Amino acid sequence: MTIQWYPGHMAKAKRQVIEKLKLIDVVIELLDARIPYSSRNPMIDEIVTNKPRLVLLNKADLADPKKTDAWISYFEEKGIKCIAVNAQDKQDMKRIISESKVLVQDKFEKMKAKGIKNTRAIRALIVGIPNVGKSTLINRLANKTIAKTGDRPGVTTGQQWIKIGKEFELLDTPGILWPKFEDQDVGYRLAITGAIKENLLDLQDVVVYLLLFLIKEYPGNLQERYQLTAIPTDMIKVFDEIGKFRGCLMGGGLIDYDKTAEVIIRDIRSARLGRITFETPLE
Ligand code: G4P
Repeated sequence: MTIQWYPGHMAKAKRQVIEKLKLIDVVIELLDARIPYSSRNPMIDEIVTNKPRLVLLNKADLADPKKTDAWISYFEEKGIKCIAVNAQDKQDMKRIISESKVLVQDKFEKMKAKGIKNTRAIRALIVGIPNVGKSTLINRLANKTIAKTGDRPGVTTGQQWIKIGKEFELLDTPGILWPKFEDQDVGYRLAITGAIKENLLDLQDVVVYLLLFLIKEYPGNLQERYQLTAIPTDMIKVFDEIGKFRGCLMGGGLIDYDKTAEVIIRDIRSARLGRITFETPLE
């Protein structure tokens, strides 16, 4: 579910994450691999100080693999360990845990050198904006299919640790942070990927933005999905052809543009338009 953010909510979210940070050794920061820039909390560097951080490009199964590689290099050049994952995939869990352990090892080694014996498990916290996959990842790491722990009001579990093996513990509630709101591109991309409610923006507007992007960056995907022999230059004609092809019609054979827009949004979110990434590191 998606929450609306107001300054009060943001301040509270920040406080809550800072509280949780006191308890943990490593932060696992989730980004959406399709929009690593737009899905990153704008204050994350200020909020997470002095803690090792692992960046996960989640939903990598929906993203363009070449661009995902470029993002991994980008973060690594900045000295931030980054891996691409799919929170629904059990295979990726071992890697997340082992990379987290490596990041903390440094700190634990230093403690050992000072004579502080550390016998407790490594403690981790998952943070990210709504809908980025935090609950899915927690459930998958915990190896259970529990109800969503995400941002459901009224469901306040006490802080509990989920034990994963002997050496690793995860806080059972994630740190929920707000997305960027700074410009229109960010807003559109958050709406396209489902991070913010589409009714916050006009759906047809969002889809026009999406189509313009696809025409520029992934024209082949668009043509293949909707069997377009050529892409019309007129946006209304693009809607007309897709609407006709997908049977989005109103009485009298007119194209239902709202329905067409909904179909396109559903197709992009489920990767039926292919694996698409909206941002590259140097933009
Ligand atoms: P949150 O706690 O951060 O708010 O996110 P949550 O886990 O609820 O995940 C949001 C949506 O993203 C869910 O789909 C979830 O299944 C999907 N998701 C999470 N990680 C991945 C991933 O790596 N790949 C893909 N393809 N999807 C992922 P939903 O449609 O909102 O719910 P549902 O259909 O699973 O019920």
